[in-house]
Amino acid sequence: MPAIVLVGAQWGDEGKGKATDLLGDRVDYVVKFNGGNNAGHTVVIGDQKYALHLLPSGILSPGVVPVIANGVVVDIEVLFDELEALSARGVDVSRLLISANAHVITGYHRTLDRVTERFLGKRQIGTTGRGIGPAYADKINRVGIRMQDLFDENILRQKVEGALDQKNHLLLKVYNRRAISVDEVVDDLLGYVERLRPMVADTGLVLNQALDAGQTVLFEGGQATMLDVDHGTYPFVTSSNATSGGAATGSGVAPNRFDRVIAVVKAYTTRVGSGPFPTELFDESGEFLRSAGFEFGTTTGRPRRTGWYDAPIARYAARINGVTDFVLTKLDVLTGLERIPVCVAYDVDGTRFDEVPVNQSDFHHATPIYEELPGWSEDITGARSFTDLPKAAQDYVLALEQMSGSRMSAIGVGPGRDAIVVRHDLL
Ligand code: GDP
Ligand code: IMO
Ligand code: MG
Repeated sequence: MPAIVLVGAQWGDEGKGKATDLLGDRVDYVVKFNGGNNAGHTVVIGDQKYALHLLPSGILSPGVVPVIANGVVVDIEVLFDELEALSARGVDVSRLLISANAHVITGYHRTLDRVTERFLGKRQIGTTGRGIGPAYADKINRVGIRMQDLFDENILRQKVEGALDQKNHLLLKVYNRRAISVDEVVDDLLGYVERLRPMVADTGLVLNQALDAGQTVLFEGGQATMLDVDHGTYPFVTSSNATSGGAATGSGVAPNRFDRVIAVVKAYTTRVGSGPFPTELFDESGEFLRSAGFEFGTTTGRPRRTGWYDAPIARYAARINGVTDFVLTKLDVLTGLERIPVCVAYDVDGTRFDEVPVNQSDFHHATPIYEELPGWSEDITGARSFTDLPKAAQDYVLALEQMSGSRMSAIGVGPGRDAIVVRHDLL
């Protein structure tokens, strides 16, 4: 029975939260499989707006069991802040499950994130400062703290000692910061143990049993394809696998169980933080997209960099993720433009590239080759079927579909839950 993966196709903020919410009343589990509270998903339900960071967007759907799986890094303080804020707004958060194998973000990860960024100077990544990179580095270095370690004080103390051993030398001698006390970290973490106990589970087992029983599980990716640590614009990426393969390793559900891969893609492109972005605009068109699309980060409030749609990136996302369906979002933002450029290939120092170049320097030097499509001026926010869209908007979607390597099954025409045109059912 259906296991569905939902990922971002570009550099994040495509509207994954809204797409998850759209499926919320028809799925039994929503699983976050990568990243942490670097994500920012805005979901608009009626006149209520929710900003989720660490929790899967499915927590807003009453029937859903939200799961934080093993591939996630969990800042426990943020976890309880977010749970309390949602509870106070009447959201039932009691069903949340967290993998015993998920790693923990602590204060020293946040500190290291900030100091390493500062030391990188001009070469900085522009991270969200949430400790994501250092927590994943500890995981790969095998000095991470996992959820299950919190339930044995002796083990926890040994592991925190192990983790801080080198870091304190680094903080003191290289970064000129104070050393971090093992006791402080351990006491802080132990303070959460009783509240965590009922949530922590073998989520891989739970999810496989749910699939065996014919239930529907949606795996919601944080970040996006071009921020994936293997397939994105390294080193200007996040530290996890945000592509569909990450749903398997990040949850303990095997690749052959996935039935469908949905990628969410914006009708134009945005990026937060540093790194290459071929279609980036520095003129009034870029400003238009930023203000019409309200492109300011949900997590850090930073203005997002904006640019036109990049078809080679969409094709790349289709290939890397095995996309079966795209959800095209924010088509309404393009209303009012006379002509809409779409990048169909790149020029790299005189050579044409039809696909995303594997060499990072080439991608840095890529200038877009555009095709211009006619725009429309009619308000499309009320469209609920494809034929409600003006001809030029329909043609824009069909042209993108043609270039992007998979069908465009749903089209977002506004931030609200019902502002969507469904062409092919997603479940
Ligand atoms: P995520 O990180 O992929 O979940 O995306 P974000 O929530 O960070 O950013 C997407 C923003 O676009 C949010 O503010 C959404 O409410 C909004 N949004 C999503 N779909 C649409 C759409 O079709 N039209 C418009 N105008 N806004 C949308
Ligand atoms: P959602 O899930 C957009 C970016 C940061 C930075 C880089 C590394 O809302 O789409 P990190 O803190 O992860 O080490 O930062 O990745 N980044 C995002 N950009 N949307 C996100 O999440 C992002 N999560 C991380 O801006 O460039
Ligand atoms: Mg976001």
